[in-house]
Amino acid sequence: MKIAIFGTGYVGLVTGACLANLGHHVTCVDIDENKINSIKQGIIPFYEPGLPKLVKNNIQKKRLQFTTDAKTAINEAQAIFNCVGTPGKEDGSANLEYVFQVTKTVAVHTPSDQFKILINKSTVPPGTAKSCQKLIKETNPSSQVQILSNPEFLKEGAAVHDFTHPDRIVVGTNQTTTKNNELIEKAKSLIRKIYLGRSRLYIPFIETSWETSEIIKYASNAFLATKISFINEVANIADIANADIKVIAQAMGMDYRISSKFLGAGVGYGGSCFPKDVRALANTAKQFGYTANLLTQVDLTNKAQKDVLPNKILNYFQNKIENKTITVLGLSFKPKTSDMREAPSTHIIKKLIQNGAKIKAYDPIAIEEAKHLFTENELQSITFTQSQKDATTNTEAIALITEWDEFRTLDFESLKIEAPNCHVIFDGRNIYEPDQVIEAGFDYVGIGRQ
Ligand code: UDX
Repeated sequence: MKIAIFGTGYVGLVTGACLANLGHHVTCVDIDENKINSIKQGIIPFYEPGLPKLVKNNIQKKRLQFTTDAKTAINEAQAIFNCVGTPGKEDGSANLEYVFQVTKTVAVHTPSDQFKILINKSTVPPGTAKSCQKLIKETNPSSQVQILSNPEFLKEGAAVHDFTHPDRIVVGTNQTTTKNNELIEKAKSLIRKIYLGRSRLYIPFIETSWETSEIIKYASNAFLATKISFINEVANIADIANADIKVIAQAMGMDYRISSKFLGAGVGYGGSCFPKDVRALANTAKQFGYTANLLTQVDLTNKAQKDVLPNKILNYFQNKIENKTITVLGLSFKPKTSDMREAPSTHIIKKLIQNGAKIKAYDPIAIEEAKHLFTENELQSITFTQSQKDATTNTEAIALITEWDEFRTLDFESLKIEAPNCHVIFDGRNIYEPDQVIEAGFDYVGIGRQ
């Protein structure tokens, strides 16, 4: 099938490359000419394991192309995916400007006698698909473009795998209680055809209304974020009550109704989705006249959690960290990505600098992206190093912020020799065994671990 994808961010590029790999002919469209030219040369604008190879292979096989020419891409495509960004606004609501721009462009460039489906893959609040369909009609009253909602659930760092092995495929249409009309049936059968190569017996295909589909995505992200804020709160209680959150989470997770996933206490969640989507769902509720207290509290708990580790560092040193060298291991919001959006590391480093510390920071991938998030003044207090060893040599404290695999096997015995003035490890992700750290001669400070 001929498919156009609008937006070459995480969702758009992964969707485009994976659909091309299933055998479709995919054209990815973006308004950013420099970005398109770079991708054509195989330069992916972000770090995502497996994606560069997939893009390269499918370009070579002539199933994947990139352009800024929206008109031609729309004309040739039977199905168009809308994968542009929906960044959060000041008030927490999602900015739908780009989603509507693409919708309008599709309406303008689709001849009235052509049937096409326009699939909203971006995360959008309930009511967006309906507004898009209205916009299509207003722009071209005889248009046959049919809007579908088909949220994407991929995780950064595992995006290609998540796309090819989804837990479910959700498709929302303008279902009515009366008999569905012919165009909707045609649209549903077209999207089933797109995913034919992706579907497996064990992957449920859920067909529902636009609004239900839109809320499924928000609710899934908000629920996972709630789990994290919940376990972080219990970790803070465990700290005071002299209990161990790792054992608590492990035992809780054995109850199949709870499950152990997303019960990892730490420095707070970040990224492009959880913070934005929790706020957007709360904001949507507010627009409907409902106060979503739980969601607001999940967000506030997470904001507060970002202070927990720097406060522990300040407490440990009795607020005297002026000119102290503190090593920060890991900058990206989670491992296997260069994404720094809402990364707890930024907040933590800024707070330590405000209190006079000198930072040595290392991340396997995210250093360049991180540099843009600090002021000139702050940058004077940060040394970004080329390796973990450079960062941990001659330091006075080590704070693990992002649990990249290479930090899991820190050699504490060697550390003692390379950093004789370092007597403490702050474990922001609870990845180390306190006994081993203490045995090597360090103090151990985790999150909710006594
Ligand atoms: C998330 C959803 O998982 C995905 O389905 C959706 O499509 C987009 O949002 P992503 O933001 O890429 O994906 O990362 P995820 O692995 O979910 O982690 C989000 C944040 O939660 C990270 O900051 C991570 O460190 C944190 N986290 C995760 C915890 O603090 N504890 C946990 O137990 C799990």
